Amino acid sequence: MPWYKNAVFYEIYLRAFYDSNGDGHGDLRGLIQKLDYLQELGVDCLWLMPTYPSPLKDDGYDIADYRSIHPDYGNLDDFKALLEAAHARNLRLILDLVINHTSDQHPWFQSARADRNSPFRDYYVWSDDPQRYKRARIIFCDTETSNWTWDEQAGQYYWHRFYACQPDLNYDNPAVQDEILDVMRFWLDLGVDGFRVDAVPYLFEREGTNCENLPETHAFLQRMRRFVDEHYPDRLLLCEANQWPQDVRAYFGDTEGKEFHMAFHFPLMPRLFMALAKADYTPIRWVFEQTPPIPDDCQWCTFLRNHDELTLEMVTPEEREWMWKTYAPQRRMRLNLGIRRRLAPLLDNNRRKIELLNSLLFTLPGAPILYYGDEIGMGDDLNLSDRNGLRTPMQWDASPQAGFSTAKRPYASPVPTPGYRPQEVNVAAQMADPQSLWHAIRRMIRARKQYPSLQCGTLRWLEGNDPSIAAFERACNGQRMLLIHNLSSQTRPCAVKITNAKKLTNALTGQEFIHPLELQNYRLAPWEYLWLLLS
Ligand code: BGC
Repeated sequence: MPWYKNAVFYEIYLRAFYDSNGDGHGDLRGLIQKLDYLQELGVDCLWLMPTYPSPLKDDGYDIADYRSIHPDYGNLDDFKALLEAAHARNLRLILDLVINHTSDQHPWFQSARADRNSPFRDYYVWSDDPQRYKRARIIFCDTETSNWTWDEQAGQYYWHRFYACQPDLNYDNPAVQDEILDVMRFWLDLGVDGFRVDAVPYLFEREGTNCENLPETHAFLQRMRRFVDEHYPDRLLLCEANQWPQDVRAYFGDTEGKEFHMAFHFPLMPRLFMALAKADYTPIRWVFEQTPPIPDDCQWCTFLRNHDELTLEMVTPEEREWMWKTYAPQRRMRLNLGIRRRLAPLLDNNRRKIELLNSLLFTLPGAPILYYGDEIGMGDDLNLSDRNGLRTPMQWDASPQAGFSTAKRPYASPVPTPGYRPQEVNVAAQMADPQSLWHAIRRMIRARKQYPSLQCGTLRWLEGNDPSIAAFERACNGQRMLLIHNLSSQTRPCAVKITNAKKLTNALTGQEFIHPLELQNYRLAPWEYLWLLLS
C-alpha cells in the first residue's frame, strides 16, 4: 500500500510553531526541536504552509522566489537539516506549492509589468478589457471587486483569482509550465516527500466558462504527474480543489493519465459540523453517496479545520445561512464564504463534541489531517484580521508567551480569550494528564494506524431509526470494526443490532466490551463514541 493511503497528516504554520532564535517568528530550527513532539503524537507526514521568500500579503501564498526560504524562517541549510531530522524519525514532509499565481514582487512580474517586450510579459494574463472571463467568480469576495486589476506601469489589466497582489500565471505559455516543473525538481531533488498543490482548479482561463476545472488544466496536471512518476516515484501530490466530489474526482486522473495521489474532501467538512449541530447524520451519509469511487492508489484527505476560513462554498445557499447562524453568530466571525474560527471555539470548547468530530474524522474513509494546535483545543483571536486569528502561536506551556518564543513582541500574542489562554490550554499540561484531549487524539491516531479497516476498509452505514446515531461498519481483509457516534446532547439507546459477532473489543482501550447481543440496549451518553472490534 502506498505510504500516503494510511498516513496521518499534520498541517504546520511555521511562523506559529516554535521560535528557536528569539526573533518572535517560528522557524525551521524551531520545528526541528519539536519533531520529537510530533513523533510522540503519532503523525506521519507534515505539511508546511509556504516557507518561501514573500512580501507576506497572503501569508506566503504570494511567492517572490520559488527556490529559497523566507529569512524569518532560516535558510536552505536549515531546511535540509529539517528534512534530514524528520526523515530520521520516519516523518515525511510535504511543501505547499503555489502554482496558480506569484507575488506581484516576483522578479517575473516585475519584469513583465515594466516592459511589454520582456520575455516574462507572457508569464501572466493581460488584457486591455476588464470585461473578459466575466463568468469567473471572485473568491476573496470580502476584499476584491474584480479579478482584473489595472497596472499603471504595464498599461494593461492583469488577471488574478485571489488578492490583487497575486497575479495569475499564464499556463497557456509553455515556458510557465516548464518553470513550475523545474521548481518541483528543485525541491524533490532536495528530498521533500511531495507537495500540497494550492488552488489547482484555476490554472487556465477560457471565455464563456467559469474558468475552473478546464480540460487544459487537467492536461497540464497529467504532465506534472508524469514528471513525478518518471523521476520521483513514491512522492505525493495532494490537490487543493474546493469543488464538488464529482469535479474533484477528475483530479485523480482518468484513462488519459493520472493526476493527483490525494485530494482534500472539501464537501465532507461542513457536513460533519452540520450533522453534529442537527444531531442528524444524514448530511454525512449523503456526501459519501455523492462521492464517486477513486482509483486504488488514491486517497481522500479529510479534515475538520485548516489555516483558512471554514469554507462554505460546497453547501447550498440555505445551508450556508444555517451554518453562519449556527457557527458564526457574530458578523466578525465570517469571512468571504466561510467562518474564521478554530475547532474548539466552533464547538463551544465542549470536550465531548471536539472528541466526537475527531472520532468521525479518524474513522470515516480518507486519510485525516490535523491543524496544528487543534490536538490541544487551541482557541482563536477574532481581533486579528483576515485568517490571522487562527494562526496564533502554538501553546507549548503555561507561560505568558506560551513557551513559543523568548521575544518580547512575537509576531502575534497567544490567544487572550479566557478558557483558551496558555495557562488554560497548553501542550505540557495535556501531555502530563492522561485524561486530556491530547491523549484522546493520540489514542485515536494509534488505533487508526493499528486497524487496516480504518485505513482503507469499506464503509457500510447501519440503518437505525434514530438519525442522531451515526453507526457504520468498516471492513478490510476479514477485519471488521463498528463505529458508533451519538450526535445528540441526550443519552440515546444505541439501537444497533449485531448478530454476526461473538465478541466486541473497545479498539481505543483494548478492553472487552459488552456482549454483542446486549449492544442494542447500550445507552450512549451525549456525544459518546465507540470504536468496536468485531470478532
Ligand atoms: C490557500 C489560501 C490562500 C489561497 C491563495 C488557498 O487555497 O489555502 O490560504 O490564500 O489559496 O493562494
